[in-house]
Amino acid sequence: MKKIGVLTSGGDAPGMNAAVRAVVRNAIYNDIEVYGVYNGYEGLMEGNIKQMVIGSVGDIIQRGGTILYSARSEKFKTDEGQQQAIEQMKKIGLEGLIVIGGDGSFRGASKLTEKGFPCIGVPGTIDNDISGTDYTIGFDTALNTIVDAVDKIRDTATSHERTYVVEVMGRDAGDLALWAGLANGAESILIPEKTDNFESVVQKLKRGQARGKKHSIIILAEGVGNGVEYGKAIEEATNMETRVTVLGHIQRGGSPSGYDRVLASRLGAKAVDLLIEGKGGRMVGVENNVVVHHDIHEVLAKKHQVNMNMYNLSNQLSI
Ligand code: F6P
Repeated sequence: MKKIGVLTSGGDAPGMNAAVRAVVRNAIYNDIEVYGVYNGYEGLMEGNIKQMVIGSVGDIIQRGGTILYSARSEKFKTDEGQQQAIEQMKKIGLEGLIVIGGDGSFRGASKLTEKGFPCIGVPGTIDNDISGTDYTIGFDTALNTIVDAVDKIRDTATSHERTYVVEVMGRDAGDLALWAGLANGAESILIPEKTDNFESVVQKLKRGQARGKKHSIIILAEGVGNGVEYGKAIEEATNMETRVTVLGHIQRGGSPSGYDRVLASRLGAKAVDLLIEGKGGRMVGVENNVVVHHDIHEVLAKKHQVNMNMYNLSNQLSI
């Protein structure tokens, strides 16, 4: 293995830069030339690829976003797009590609591998919705962003004796909502994996009100529904003054947490090691604090499971 490429794809996540840094530095450490692909698969098809050196990734471990930019590409889903990408990589002499992103990005990586071009996936998404890893890069930082925001919302909720519905990201997964809800002591957590009955949330709010509780926080995962509509329905059903905050893309930005930097460094470096060993079609991950790797097809075929023990605990603690 003499030349490899690296790209970031899909929604960006804090820690992607730390992963790019680990890929570049570990490749160079092993005497491999490394090329950065700009704008994800779009850039790969267009040949927007430049060699990276040790200094290319200096001073980025602490930066949010991705210095390689990111994109979601429809064209790359086609056979023609994938062939075009392989031709671009062959022109430069690349022999392997590291894809940092979420499940959509891994689908592309598995297609390239099937066509004979070895790829390794590195899970980078705030959603934590990938099987085969306990955590994805960016989840911890996004969680801390939400926790900080909800602490602030609770201050004003207390002062004004209001109910707040806070809508958080996560696509079809409830991890961000669940972890934040537990960390923030939310009165109710709504996740797509457990469609809690609207009526039970209303009854809980009413029970709290009867006990003299004047404010409440409901964390709603975006996969469950629209926060604004949910807030209106809660206000109508309870007669309690309700406000809605949709946290939106602030959850994707910011300097990565220490945990995400370490995770990204471990996974990025391992991805290079796998290519050196001649492996392709794998995804690196962390399980029980050990770096592991799995067949990328198996990762894509298996649905990520939210931790229902944590969900039950949050209900117990927010009676
Ligand atoms: O996958 C990351 C994520 O932030 C999801 O949580 C969210 O549903 C989606 O991306 C938003 O995508 P976009 O930035 O394209 O609106």
